Amino acid sequence: MSDDRTELRVTLAVGVSRCGKTIFFLRYLVARFQAKQLRCIFIFDPRGLMAAQLGVNVAETEDELELAVTDGIVCFDPEVLFQGDHERAFDFFCTWSYATAQRLGAATALVADEIWQYQSRQKVPLPLARWIKDGAKYGCECCFATHEPQLLNSSIKGHVTEFVCFYLQEKQALEYCRQFGIEPDEVKSLANGSFISRDPRTRGELRGKVF
Ligand SMILES: Nc1ncnc2c1ncn2[C@@H]1O[C@H](COP(=O)(O)OP(=O)(O)O)[C@@H](O)[C@H]1O
Ligand SMILES: [Mg+2]
Repeated sequence: MSDDRTELRVTLAVGVSRCGKTIFFLRYLVARFQAKQLRCIFIFDPRGLMAAQLGVNVAETEDELELAVTDGIVCFDPEVLFQGDHERAFDFFCTWSYATAQRLGAATALVADEIWQYQSRQKVPLPLARWIKDGAKYGCECCFATHEPQLLNSSIKGHVTEFVCFYLQEKQALEYCRQFGIEPDEVKSLANGSFISRDPRTRGELRGKVF
């Protein structure tokens, strides 16, 4: 584990809605959590959709967040504390989870499904940027999913260490995948549930399916 602690790990899953991105992350993270490779998973979870799939309670208050840390899977539903202000809620959660991860001093992961909602091509919120840029120092890794990769800030793209590509059809989205070495024709021929995963540093490729 200690060898990995300073290694940056940013996993980005892309694909149209219902192609399997969320299922992918849940399986990937739970497997690593059960293998004790992750001490805590921090999931930003409006409406508690991932909590429901994982069969855990959502955390809605600061006390509940702390309690969830002891269990190791934190699904934060921001409704009670932020009443629909997801931007502020997301900043809060990134800041809180980052401080908690540092305190734990063990491998952790931040999960931001549908990341397009919380950043733009112009701006990445500072608390999120901290996770991406400095998290590796503390064993923190990031997992992001989006159906519109072309709308991601370029600073995120530059940090991706694993690009997990499900079916996409839109021209600009396909171009984005090409930048990771996956040809548009391949992406367009993927069945729902199937993916191609590329490590942009080693250019290693893996194919799989979640259903
Ligand atoms: N074995 C399966 N075969 C077909 N569809 C499945 C299977 N398991 C799950 N699904 C469906 O796959 C869909 C995609 O899941 P999800 O990971 O939430 O997609 P995404 O996050 O990309 O929108 C869900 O609607 C779910 O009902
Ligand atoms: Mg999803």
